Amino acid sequence: MTTRGKDLLKDKTALVTGGGAGIGRAIAERYAREGATVIVTDFNDDAGQQTVADITRAGGNASYEHLNVCNSAEHDALIAKIVMQHGRLDVACNNAGISGAMVPLVEMTDAQWLEVINTNLSGVFFGIRAQCRAMSSAGGGAIVNISSILGQVGFPATVAYTAAKHGVVGMTQTAAIEYGAQGVRVNAVGPTFIKTSWINNIPPDLQSDLLARHPLARFGEAEEVAALALWLSSDEASYITGAYYPVDGGYLAA
Ligand code: NAI
Repeated sequence: MTTRGKDLLKDKTALVTGGGAGIGRAIAERYAREGATVIVTDFNDDAGQQTVADITRAGGNASYEHLNVCNSAEHDALIAKIVMQHGRLDVACNNAGISGAMVPLVEMTDAQWLEVINTNLSGVFFGIRAQCRAMSSAGGGAIVNISSILGQVGFPATVAYTAAKHGVVGMTQTAAIEYGAQGVRVNAVGPTFIKTSWINNIPPDLQSDLLARHPLARFGEAEEVAALALWLSSDEASYITGAYYPVDGGYLAA
């Protein structure tokens, strides 16, 4: 985080879940660079605090709060604390997620299914509910949910992940319909395979197959997802809600 932004989030208070690593970390850094006061959350406290330390060292404004997205009471308490300390919540990015076990549908256990659904679907719902309550009563706000290309299409051995990410898109649309009149915009972002720790878990031969399915012939960078999340969070996107935007190197077009 070296270059100064264009102050697209000047004077805004912004929350990021799963901000300790990967895409969430890149989004927190980008929000801070654009002038936001960023509340970085994660259930990995060391990782989240490291993000805050790096943002602060680079001249940004950030603080850390523990948040396990699977725990609805933690969401509610955090939003109440943010409103008390900062006056309002302007922007929220529901990013935290897990890949889960890659197994064929018939082999997926109840525990494997529930782990992914609890984090990637219920975790986003608990967030949206608390955020919409606070934003709608304060006159508006912007929510960005990190879905996936697998929020639009299927992929082998990912039934729980695909179901959760499709669910996030549906939740985004419903929340946008319910709270648009109160000034709350809710949008979803659909990344393809992004160069976070996840890519390392994909076997090299599958990585080659996947690259061939991307017109841009490369995997994405976390910063490229952050650029879209920033734009949707900012007033530049003031007439956009209930939308799903891929950031996928052309995967869904191919
Ligand atoms: P990552 O594993 O690099 O970072 C995820 C962060 O979320 C970590 O800091 C982790 O501690 C945190 N986290 C996980 N479970 C949590 C929980 N229950 N409560 C609070 N924090 C929790 O993952 P990455 O790649 O940055 O993924 C972020 C989001 O982007 C996820 O929703 C993922 O589904 C989505 N995504 C990622 C893609 C990729 O290729 N990396 C592709 C498409 C979507």
